[in-house]
Amino acid sequence: MKVNGRFCGVLVFLFTVVLLPSVSWSGPVDFPKGCLDCHGSEAKYAVLGARAQYMTSGHKKLGNASYANSGDCMACHTNEGFIELVKRGKVDPKKFVANPSEVGCFTCHAPHETGDFSLRKTDKVTLANGAVFDREKGNLCANCHQARRAAKTEVKARNIPSDSWGAHHGPQADMLLGTNGYEFPGKSYSQSAHASLPKANCVVCHMTLPAGRYSFSPAIGGHSFKLEGEVHERPTLNVAGCLVSGCHTEMKQVKGTVFFDRKAPADYDGDGKVETIQGETQGLCERIINKSGTGLLQKMKDAPYDAKGTFINSKTQYPVEVVAALYNYKYVFEDRSKGIHNTVYAIQLLMDSLKALDKGFDDSKRPQ
Ligand code: HEC
Ligand code: HEC
Ligand code: HEC
Ligand code: HEC
Ligand code: HEC
Repeated sequence: MKVNGRFCGVLVFLFTVVLLPSVSWSGPVDFPKGCLDCHGSEAKYAVLGARAQYMTSGHKKLGNASYANSGDCMACHTNEGFIELVKRGKVDPKKFVANPSEVGCFTCHAPHETGDFSLRKTDKVTLANGAVFDREKGNLCANCHQARRAAKTEVKARNIPSDSWGAHHGPQADMLLGTNGYEFPGKSYSQSAHASLPKANCVVCHMTLPAGRYSFSPAIGGHSFKLEGEVHERPTLNVAGCLVSGCHTEMKQVKGTVFFDRKAPADYDGDGKVETIQGETQGLCERIINKSGTGLLQKMKDAPYDAKGTFINSKTQYPVEVVAALYNYKYVFEDRSKGIHNTVYAIQLLMDSLKALDKGFDDSKRPQ
């Protein structure tokens, strides 16, 4: 076929003068500048580092988003539910999230809308019993890490419907404030300094990064949200948050354990030794339920827990003392700080619960 010379000329012109300059083979892609703050080679925000830490966190790894994606669960357990809660002030408990994802970057931040990492929600939070939690950035956490019910309405003579009955797994905001445990009539309750110091907020303690080259690890501090993790093959506590605030001048890890080196003022659990705060709190909890079957809620008649510590009894109508003791046990146990969030309040609740179950329990060392 004879090629038309003039047509060829037009093609060559088009290619060299019009197309070639517009396709640049090795220059920068046409990427909006605003994106580079987060997605550039020298990003202003440590997105990649935060992500590495986040990958080790309970938010990413515990994986209950798909299970707890309906009712009111979704507001705390799914990214989509929390965003809806923030936007509309509530979630529809009759619906469920069809494609639920874990609490992640876009749950706590809205980077593509705001262009930065400001927090999605930081206003004060009213807890289930009406107490108000107001602790700066910690307010974000308190939206989800709070008891789901008020102890006052939950604790009465009754049966225990299931193992998940209670305050629900994360009552940390209540515990930090020292509120919403079951407070026995006639007893007075107090709080540790963590309840009132503004700097004792979730973010300072849980997210401060350890300093120094060999202390860094994506497993503790920052977006791991964890105070305990494996650093260079050793279980390590992150004490940076205790020190950065100027509140403590010294804080160590007890060698060979994952307990903070803070001695309790007295032998609360009555085992003959004054241990760390976490050791005493754990000792008190174990007097109620433990793995060897000797706990008071395991040995009693028609006990709710068996010798291994497994929930077995949902039928028996228990008197209020038993229900109260179980409620407080779960409240302290599921707070999971082993008394660190609010030592005095946790110890008082546990000792009063033990006394209610066993008149012979020595509560003479109860902190006032
Ligand atoms: C203030 C920070 C920030 C800015 C600015 C930003 N992004 Fe992102 N972007 C993020 C974060 C955080 C993620 C999630 C990263 C992760 O999961 O590790 C993300 C993820 C993405 C993803 C992956 C999809 C997804 O949903 O995970 C794309 C695509 C993306 N961004 C495009 C852009 C574009 C295009 C721009 C500019 C118009 C931009 N981003 C600007 C923070 C930002
Ligand atoms: C107020 C917020 C909130 C609501 C509502 C909520 N959860 Fe949770 N849930 C949490 C938090 C926070 C944790 C993690 C606490 C921790 O590990 O300290 C958690 C933990 C869990 C766990 C893990 C327990 C474990 O021992 O590892 C399960 C399972 C769970 N929730 C199921 C549910 C279900 C099902 C619902 C709805 C019926 C629900 N949650 C409603 C906040 C909530
Ligand atoms: C559970 C809530 C939560 C999640 C999930 C979360 N963040 Fe954050 N993020 C925070 C809080 C709180 C701060 C403030 C920390 C502080 O002040 O020390 C923060 C701070 C940051 C900062 C520092 C901002 C600055 O001004 O320097 C970056 C960057 C960041 N987050 C990125 C991410 C990325 C990327 C992800 C997902 C991989 C993510 N975050 C997931 C709560 C969260
Ligand atoms: C949108 C709700 C939500 C927010 C906001 C939130 N969390 Fe969580 N967090 C959860 C849920 C739900 C879990 C349990 C996840 C699961 O079981 O799948 C959890 C788990 C955790 C865990 C792991 C607990 C364990 O048993 O291993 C820590 C630690 C934690 N969160 C700390 C924080 C801190 C600190 C903040 C504030 C910076 C925060 N969270 C903000 C909902 C939230
Ligand atoms: C004074 C410092 C401090 C403050 C304030 C604080 N925490 Fe903690 N938290 C701790 C310590 C210490 C532990 C025990 C960590 C360990 O031994 O793994 C802990 C444990 C936890 C755990 C269990 C972690 C796990 O891996 O099992 C969660 C969840 C948690 N805190 C959430 C919160 C939330 C949410 C807030 C705010 C309402 C908060 N914390 C406030 C120090 C603090």
